[in-house]
Amino acid sequence: MSIAESRTDSVPAIAVTGSTGHLGGRVATAIAERGEAQTLVVRDASRAPQLAGARVRQASYRDGEASRAALEGVQTLFMVSASESADRVDEHRSFIDAAAAAGVRHIVYTSFFGAHPEAVFTLARDHFATEQHIRDSGMSFTFLRNNFYMDFFALLPGEDGVIRGPAGSGRVSAVSRADLADAALAVLSDPTAHSGAVYELTGREALSLDEVARIITQKTGRSITFRDETLPEAYESRAGYSAPSWQVDAWVSTYTAMADGEQERITDDIRTLTGHDPQTLAEFLDRS
Ligand SMILES: NC(=O)c1ccc[n+]([C@@H]2O[C@H](COP(=O)([O-])OP(=O)(O)OC[C@H]3O[C@@H](n4cnc5c(N)ncnc54)[C@H](OP(=O)(O)O)[C@@H]3O)[C@@H](O)[C@H]2O)c1
Repeated sequence: MSIAESRTDSVPAIAVTGSTGHLGGRVATAIAERGEAQTLVVRDASRAPQLAGARVRQASYRDGEASRAALEGVQTLFMVSASESADRVDEHRSFIDAAAAAGVRHIVYTSFFGAHPEAVFTLARDHFATEQHIRDSGMSFTFLRNNFYMDFFALLPGEDGVIRGPAGSGRVSAVSRADLADAALAVLSDPTAHSGAVYELTGREALSLDEVARIITQKTGRSITFRDETLPEAYESRAGYSAPSWQVDAWVSTYTAMADGEQERITDDIRTLTGHDPQTLAEFLDRS
């Protein structure tokens, strides 16, 4: 059943969160461009994108009542994971409970590559806990386990042109948000066909940070280098931000997860879902 076929007169079949952000914004825009109706669930209605066929409902994930009201009558929910916070999993659980109470049938959730309770990358543990809550909710689901954004690696070098972190020679199969949005759209075009599926979404190359630095240098003309840090150096170089310990752990484990080999596997899932190859970093930089 396609989105168009399943649309009711009053409530669009699909709801999208995160449309004020990068990934959700791309997905919502593409849905509108396809002529589909949708509900945009946003934290601040004044910042919702203006899209044809979209109605806007205001709710944050932690506000169960507003979330349930926003999702009433929705069949398929595209749930973008919340911004990092100390209690993000609780926020997610609240929103998932609200979706189940509202009668949502299917959740498409943006999880993380290799989500696991003992993942080295600490935030991948939050994603696993969220996945479990969705599995336990009784709703059908599709998990989009996105690897690190390629877009993020292009921005990694500091003002001095140095990428710093304890990644060693570890590799990452980073993937562009554009490819991830295409994959999400493919799933949202026919959610029931992807019920119960877990996709591990990666780019088509696994690069070390030395290679990332070399490619950025070649493509931008800016001299970029990678400096491997020890673990104590990594914590020390981030101490100046006065961030809470869970956040510094997340930042540092971005790199230690690479060193550990957690982020390097390459899958065909982008191609399988979208029919096209994911971009390489060089292609991404050419198009940026
Ligand atoms: N794979 C990776 O490398 C990577 C990197 C960074 C983040 N992520 C995760 O992927 C998600 C999407 O990435 P992105 O680049 O699109 O992020 P983004 O541009 O920061 O957008 C995040 C979106 O989620 C909304 N949001 C955040 N917390 C929320 C909450 N508690 N309740 C309701 N809505 C909330 C934001 O709304 P507002 O506009 O109101 O803030 C925004 O629309 C991020 O939120 C994060 O969980 C993944």
